[in-house]
Amino acid sequence: MSDNKVVLNYDGNSFEYPIVDSTIGDRGIDISKLRDQTGLITLDLGYKNTGATLSDITYLDGDNGELYYRGYPIEQIAEKSNFSEVMYLLLHGELPTQDQFLKFEGGIKKYNYVADEMKKILDVFPRSAHPMGVLSSLTSALTAFNPKAVNVNSKEEMDEAAEMLLAKFSHLCAWTYRKKLGLSINHGDNNLNYVENFYKMCFRRPNMDFELDPVVVGALDKLLILHADHEQNCSTSTVRMVGSAHTGLFASVSAGISALWGPLHGGANQAVIEMLEMIEQDGGDVAKYVEKAKNKDDNFRLMGFGHRVYKNFDPRATIIKKAADDILTALGIEDKALDIAMQLERVALEDEYFVSRKLYPNVDFYSGIIYRALGIPTEMFTVMFALGRLPGWISQWKEMRLHNDPIGRPRQVYQGAQKRDYVDLSAR
Ligand code: SDX
Repeated sequence: MSDNKVVLNYDGNSFEYPIVDSTIGDRGIDISKLRDQTGLITLDLGYKNTGATLSDITYLDGDNGELYYRGYPIEQIAEKSNFSEVMYLLLHGELPTQDQFLKFEGGIKKYNYVADEMKKILDVFPRSAHPMGVLSSLTSALTAFNPKAVNVNSKEEMDEAAEMLLAKFSHLCAWTYRKKLGLSINHGDNNLNYVENFYKMCFRRPNMDFELDPVVVGALDKLLILHADHEQNCSTSTVRMVGSAHTGLFASVSAGISALWGPLHGGANQAVIEMLEMIEQDGGDVAKYVEKAKNKDDNFRLMGFGHRVYKNFDPRATIIKKAADDILTALGIEDKALDIAMQLERVALEDEYFVSRKLYPNVDFYSGIIYRALGIPTEMFTVMFALGRLPGWISQWKEMRLHNDPIGRPRQVYQGAQKRDYVDLSAR
């Protein structure tokens, strides 16, 4: 039986701090009294060893490459569920009954449109604008058209805000795609399910009949499932931090979009394809780029490799790698980038530098191969990640508010100037 407290010896005194138990995974030392009792704070750059909250939503085991949504292993969810059902599971904690699912889908379809004024905001962006910047702005602008702050303690209000955002966000994501291609926007179609509706809003051309390709819809659905939540990652922590000030849901998610945009986070899926294309254009010399990634004097990194938590393999990467193979075969596409990706993976995983640092392909390494096969432009890849992660962001924001987590306000170890007096300009 493990201890239920830790003892800290400091300045000739002993201090005890209780350990907070988990269902599975990391247990936590409760240091809420540390500063009052010792005058010390902790320092943990990047919060690599720090739990920010208690959560029931998603569990990761980084050593064994396991990922559970509300206890259900990602492999089973990816194979047997669908994205709409995963949204419900993350938001409500249980798989829905048939009636609950139909009510949930109906709640989303009720908001399957976006005010025309929002289109005017979209129109003023240049076509060259990065879709993530457009998406973050449009998501924040949703607040202007839905200013009523959600009462998180009202189940009805919280459910309605979540369903509204899920519905409208899929439009905003599709609109950024249409903007990039200079195409008119499509509105939602309530005869379709969530992923079919998104697919049609993206790909329907006004001058052609539109047909849903089940292979493409199936691949999209699986990719969105695999991105739906991932406990306290950078963008989710951003949504929680902004929401902890009781900022509205839409504005909190808008901040999360900006965090996800970063190439070390969700922006990696775009960076991976750009890296694979660069290697291809440079003659496909994979070994050269593996050496560059190892060279401390070279700021090149193997995008799509490494993870803060997964130190064995990312279970999502395993599923996506197979899906990439399947969809390229189904669509009859030869993609040099996939060949280079598989060579890169093989070379890197035999190299001591990567093995010793436990750097394996992550969720972003193969996802771009599929998005590209589906005809999605590279700059849209992180928008796809955001669409997938939205139910996770909403669920985590809702949990943070229902738990009454305090406003996030970390401390620091100050290493700046000692107190000193102002010097007039004439004396400097
Ligand atoms: C996502 O947190 C989540 O859950 C995120 C995510 C989610 O679903 O929300 O899973 C999505 O963001 C996946 C990660 C996508 N990012 C990338 O693929 C970018 C490339 N990867 C890295 O930048 C890096 O691996 C991180 C950011 C993912 C993790 O960084 P850490 O945990 O802070 O590790 P680190 O930067 O301290 O690296 C440890 C060592 C260092 O070498 P040493 O100083 O020990 O000699 O590993 C090296 C790093 O230089 N290293 C790499 C590397 N990643 C880490 N070296 C070369 N190529 C890489 N990709």
